[in-house]
Amino acid sequence: TTVEWEAASYDMGGHDTYMHKEIHEQAEAVDRVLRGRIDDRFSTVHLGGLNLDARDARAVRRVKILGCGTSYHAGQIGAQMIEELARIPADAEPASEFRYRNAVVDPDTLYIAVSQSGETYDVLAAVQELKRKGARVLGIVNVVGSAIAREADGGMYVHAGPEVCVVSTKCFTNTCVAFALLALHLGRTRDLSVRDGKRIIEGLRKLPAQISEMLEQEEDIRKLAAQYAEARSMLFIGRVRGYPVAREASLKLKEVSYIHAEAYPASELKHGPLALIEPALPTVAIVPDDDLLEKNRAAMEEIKARSGQILAVAHQEQEKADHTIVVPKNEDELDPILMGIPLQLLAYHTALALGRDIDKPRNLAKSVTVE
Ligand code: G6P
Repeated sequence: TTVEWEAASYDMGGHDTYMHKEIHEQAEAVDRVLRGRIDDRFSTVHLGGLNLDARDARAVRRVKILGCGTSYHAGQIGAQMIEELARIPADAEPASEFRYRNAVVDPDTLYIAVSQSGETYDVLAAVQELKRKGARVLGIVNVVGSAIAREADGGMYVHAGPEVCVVSTKCFTNTCVAFALLALHLGRTRDLSVRDGKRIIEGLRKLPAQISEMLEQEEDIRKLAAQYAEARSMLFIGRVRGYPVAREASLKLKEVSYIHAEAYPASELKHGPLALIEPALPTVAIVPDDDLLEKNRAAMEEIKARSGQILAVAHQEQEKADHTIVVPKNEDELDPILMGIPLQLLAYHTALALGRDIDKPRNLAKSVTVE
């Protein structure tokens, strides 16, 4: 069983669906998650609700992030940010898997539960199990006062505002930004320099305007979606920072358009998925302008050589791709946040072209509060 939102209680504000409205609220939402948290004096952030002093923060040896669905993917992006900015080993795992495998619970690990609703049963049960074993658990949650927020030792609210559409968009983006703040905070209690702290803060401050700029390309993305809506299946590829973006984009497309989609690390193409490449299986390639750009170009070449169609999401036009969606460049570590946004629009317009029930996809629920 599931909990249904009382959708009628929120105004659609002139949009035809909540998904569309929520995609377009993201610049504002990101502004809210940043508000009041940046500390320019020390090039860090204030996160009062963590209940983790500097000594505690320095004692963390590992970070384990737990969540389900889209929140799990935000956790994968968060884990990379924590590793990059704070140099603490970090990874994400579906909460549902974690709680059934009798995981080793380590007192020097910081556990982070991620949930939009704060009510997902598998996440809550994982938190309760962790607490029973004496672990320190933080929550990164949207709904204030929710079960997971109450159960955790501390945490951050992502302040995305109410999200009604079953598939998560603005909350995903805000959760990624919340992770960037946490990574910056952990980094600045350790070896992240003042200069790098400033660089990340400047990057964070640019996000709302860059999101608005991105959303202006909606009409072009709508046209692309009309073409790709005929596909029976799509492949999403990315490397390192781009891989969780590919996974989330693939989930989004599947959930809302019912087109089968699979995400793969671009580096693993030759170990299987290349066998699938043919004109009828389009690939979406996440190609950030970072030190893996050449590797990603080579992967696109492999696909082109087998007559696969490619839609690239990149910081500059990609000549190997049939189409490129150009995303504004931010700091390398923050790029995944913006790269996810055109792919939300792609999923949305594909679903619209196919006449799907966008806000309530079949068989899915906004929060799954039972096992
Ligand atoms: C359901 C929803 C997903 C969501 C997941 C986790 O499966 O359909 O969109 O990502 O639950 O929800 P949570 O509220 O914990 O983030």
